[in-house]
Amino acid sequence: MNIFDAIEQRRSVKHYDPAASMPEQDFEKLMSAMLLSPTSFNAQHWRVVRVQDKALRAKIQQAAFDQAQVSDAAELIVLCADINAWQDRPVRYWANVDESVRNVMLPMMKGFYEGKEQLQRDEALRSCGIAAQTLMLAAKGLGYDSNPLIGFDAEQVAELVNLPEGHLVSMLIAVGKAQQPARPRGGQLPLEEIVVNNTFS
Ligand SMILES: Cc1cc2nc3c(=O)[nH]c(=O)nc-3n(C[C@H](O)[C@H](O)[C@H](O)COP(=O)(O)O)c2cc1C
Repeated sequence: MNIFDAIEQRRSVKHYDPAASMPEQDFEKLMSAMLLSPTSFNAQHWRVVRVQDKALRAKIQQAAFDQAQVSDAAELIVLCADINAWQDRPVRYWANVDESVRNVMLPMMKGFYEGKEQLQRDEALRSCGIAAQTLMLAAKGLGYDSNPLIGFDAEQVAELVNLPEGHLVSMLIAVGKAQQPARPRGGQLPLEEIVVNNTFS
């Protein structure tokens, strides 16, 4: 599928065919595409919890204001972020480059994030936002629909998935086969309101 078609056709679908499943091969393709998303210093903050257990899905649905897509979609992903990725064995992020490059990147990364808790958290969420869109566009390309969700009690979901210390739940993503199309678009803001030339006035 052409990238612009995928962008235009991706919509937040709320109603899924509960009988549809996703072949393993498609799930791996989705994850492999997501893995190519850009992250600052290649820190790859994302951690993906794939929720296949039906009973757990039902509990997450309860924690998500009973939104049915949590249980009905073929796949439910709890997209988490490791806030401490910047300092967790960062040599892994530069495993394939020359040592000379690694020797520059690693201290630079440490200096950039050390002591800056807000930035560490922002970065983790930034990474998840980009990864989520990669995943949803890849899903569209494979013939699936998706819905990102922030409508849930973060503490409850964290507890349900046993979220480790130093991690955040960035969002849920339902991926599956649509039972009903998305509602008409809410309306996009005019580009003149979005695009600013050089500086805000
Ligand atoms: C971070 C985020 C959280 C969202 N949370 C929910 C949600 O909890 N429930 C829901 O039905 N849709 C949710 N949405 C979908 C938005 O309502 C939807 O993206 C928006 O209305 C634009 O529609 P479109 O995605 O079909 O273009 C969320 C979207 C984003 C990006």
